[in-house]
Amino acid sequence: MTPGDLTVRDATDADLPAVVEIYNQSIPGGWSTADTAPVAVADRVEWFRKFHPARRPLWVAEIGGEIVAWVGLTSFYAGRPAYDATAEISLYVGTAHHGRGLGRFLKERMIAHCPALGVTTLLSMHFDHNAATKHLNDSLGFVALGHLTEIAVVNGVKRGLVISALRIAPAG
Ligand SMILES: CC(C)(COP(=O)(O)OP(=O)(O)OC[C@H]1O[C@@H](n2cnc3c(N)ncnc32)[C@H](O)[C@@H]1OP(=O)(O)O)[C@@H](O)C(=O)NCCC(=O)NCCS
Repeated sequence: MTPGDLTVRDATDADLPAVVEIYNQSIPGGWSTADTAPVAVADRVEWFRKFHPARRPLWVAEIGGEIVAWVGLTSFYAGRPAYDATAEISLYVGTAHHGRGLGRFLKERMIAHCPALGVTTLLSMHFDHNAATKHLNDSLGFVALGHLTEIAVVNGVKRGLVISALRIAPAG
């Protein structure tokens, strides 16, 4: 994969099924999301409508016209105003495309866009056994601020949640 093969654009309504499909691919692994069964497109409509290109973007990445990954920012703590400059990043790469540099490319691209969005604290919340996200975050300068141990049960195993943050300089 090179950036030249890839198109990154804001998601449209028509992309929601592909976005949900990629999300659902991550569930059986048991290390990415607290959902334990596939979600339906209808269940994600309200979530999808909260994205906005100028404040909380949802980008899809396409290779040859096929959506292979997505990255989005959501507001923290129900979007209360004091947290306006804080956003949570979510990144999902289709399982067939893991390990090809897509995740790093998309996360770095969203981080670079944060000043234009007014985001100066980027949060990442992931299970403590999500080695891929931990590795990626560590390499990008995220710092773990919290570790909620044994807070979830996934496939019968107690798992913890790491909350890490990247501080980003505001636009000059
Ligand atoms: C986490 C995820 C987004 C990474 O995307 P990806 O495209 O496979 O990652 P990349 O190929 O860009 O790899 C990024 C780095 O992580 C490393 N990495 C990838 N998978 C790894 C794993 N399972 N364990 C440890 N390191 C891993 C790569 O070696 C690479 O390191 P490097 O750049 O220092 O050489 C992808 O695994 C995914 O979609 N997982 C399911 C969803 C998820 O967990 N999302 C995060 C919760 S919001």
